[in-house]
Amino acid sequence: MKTRININPETCIGCGLCASVCSKKILKMNHKRVEVVEYADWSCCQCGLCMSICPTRSILIEGLNYNDFVTLPENEVSFTNLEKMLSSRRSIRSFRDRGIEREVLNKVIIASAMSPIGALPINVQVMILDEKKHLDELYRDTVRCWNKMMQSMKNPIYRIISRRIAGANQYHALTHHALPSARICCENANNGKNVFTFNAPAVMIFHGSKLSVCVVENCWLAASYATIAAHSLGLGSIFSGMIPPIVNMNKEVKRKLGIPDENNIYSCLLLGYPAVEFKRKIPRKHKEVMYLNKF
Ligand SMILES: Cc1cc2nc3c(=O)[nH]c(=O)nc-3n(C[C@H](O)[C@H](O)[C@H](O)COP(=O)(O)O)c2cc1C
Ligand code: SF4
Ligand code: SF4
Repeated sequence: MKTRININPETCIGCGLCASVCSKKILKMNHKRVEVVEYADWSCCQCGLCMSICPTRSILIEGLNYNDFVTLPENEVSFTNLEKMLSSRRSIRSFRDRGIEREVLNKVIIASAMSPIGALPINVQVMILDEKKHLDELYRDTVRCWNKMMQSMKNPIYRIISRRIAGANQYHALTHHALPSARICCENANNGKNVFTFNAPAVMIFHGSKLSVCVVENCWLAASYATIAAHSLGLGSIFSGMIPPIVNMNKEVKRKLGIPDENNIYSCLLLGYPAVEFKRKIPRKHKEVMYLNKF
């Protein structure tokens, strides 16, 4: 069904801003009048860009409400402040024995939902664990499942099947990165040291339907915004590369976490109030940055 688009001719000043931002090119100006042009298989995706730019609130998209749009501040964050904030963020692996207030977690979520999205409708889902019994169970399950996986990988037939299912690249990542890391984490677990979740008092799991568009990118972008927002709120955080793959391979654990079978976990952020304070920023650069000047 096509989304209804209403333009109020009484208040529209014909500025054309809505047409200039319409992501689907449905809006077109015709002698200072906005027209809705609909092509066979294009329809409004309710992105709301037109409503967010209209100076007179004259365009209304079915399903959207001006009351839900927040007025943007005039002063943007300066690069100096942003750089200062970003460069002071470090992954935190040591947390204070203090829970995170839900209002603080909700702020992290609000910020994470502002990340770019590959395509509408929005497909990022978030599961938050902030109760000790759930966090302890996730840790126990992670240790158990990785131990089981390491045991299974000793079997050459299991290795052949895994390689076929995972594909060459994923299998290489598993054998050369995930399994060696898991071995170290499990050895630590045997010695009573939790380097899977670092006893973080909250875990944010970003998941979504395996078949939905750009779900991996969307989850990662949302999680990246979350880690920055967490830092701005005085929280420490760290991504867990060990939890998503092992949970995705274990239906029973996935179900315990309330993740639907058709979904995968794509990113997992551990959060808590930091027990350490870094004094210096680490110099960090991309492997390579170039401008294409000549062929
Ligand atoms: C995809 C991804 C997975 C990660 N997984 C882990 C992990 O399982 N354990 C861990 O200690 N750190 C993990 N990290 C954190 C990185 O080790 C950390 O970001 C890196 O050392 C750089 O440090 P910084 O975040 O303080 O700049 C992960 C980071 C990313 C982006
Ligand atoms: S909501 Fe988006 S796609 Fe629909 S008319 Fe407005 S700008 Fe175009
Ligand atoms: S942005 Fe608003 S005022 Fe401007 S042409 Fe579109 S509907 Fe009319």
